Amino acid sequence: MTLLQIMAAGDAGDIKVRTTDDTAIAAELAARGITFERWPTLDNASTIPSDELLAEYAERIATLNATGRYRHIDIARIHPDDTNPEWPAIAKGAREKFLDEHRHAEDEVRFFAAGRGCFYLHIGDEVLATVCEAGDLVSVPAGTLHWFDMGTRPDFVAVRFFEEEDGWIGDFTGDKISSGFPTLDELLAAR
Ligand SMILES: [Fe+2]
Repeated sequence: MTLLQIMAAGDAGDIKVRTTDDTAIAAELAARGITFERWPTLDNASTIPSDELLAEYAERIATLNATGRYRHIDIARIHPDDTNPEWPAIAKGAREKFLDEHRHAEDEVRFFAAGRGCFYLHIGDEVLATVCEAGDLVSVPAGTLHWFDMGTRPDFVAVRFFEEEDGWIGDFTGDKISSGFPTLDELLAAR
């Protein structure tokens, strides 16, 4: 289930809002300039090939990209593979890539077709932990300070929308703020 937990940026224990209500989540995010939408989900989203997944969502993707602004649209996926001895290292490496606070030169637009991940949006004196699950589309405006936690057992399929091919590259602030906030695993355990 999608979850939004809004905390004071200076004190993660100061929880101002915690909700799993889609309408309330969209309203809280919209009030801060963040787009959040719910798209229909597919039962087989985690198993069908990427090109078929893009075809299934072609109409919605075309609407979102009506201006042609996103010139690179692809799928990012990671699934646990306990048969692979390298999996723990792969999972750790993937997770650590976006765990520190950063920003991007373009909007970070993601549609979660399956699985989950948490965006932490550091806006003013608040941090908004937004756990996205299947069916959630979020657009983090360019320049917004944020980090992303895919959890200790990363498992998701996400459609990514880029203006530039290297749009995913983060400009890291060097601030260790993320270490003071509940991880995705902790947010899920608390619900
Ligand atoms: Fe990012």
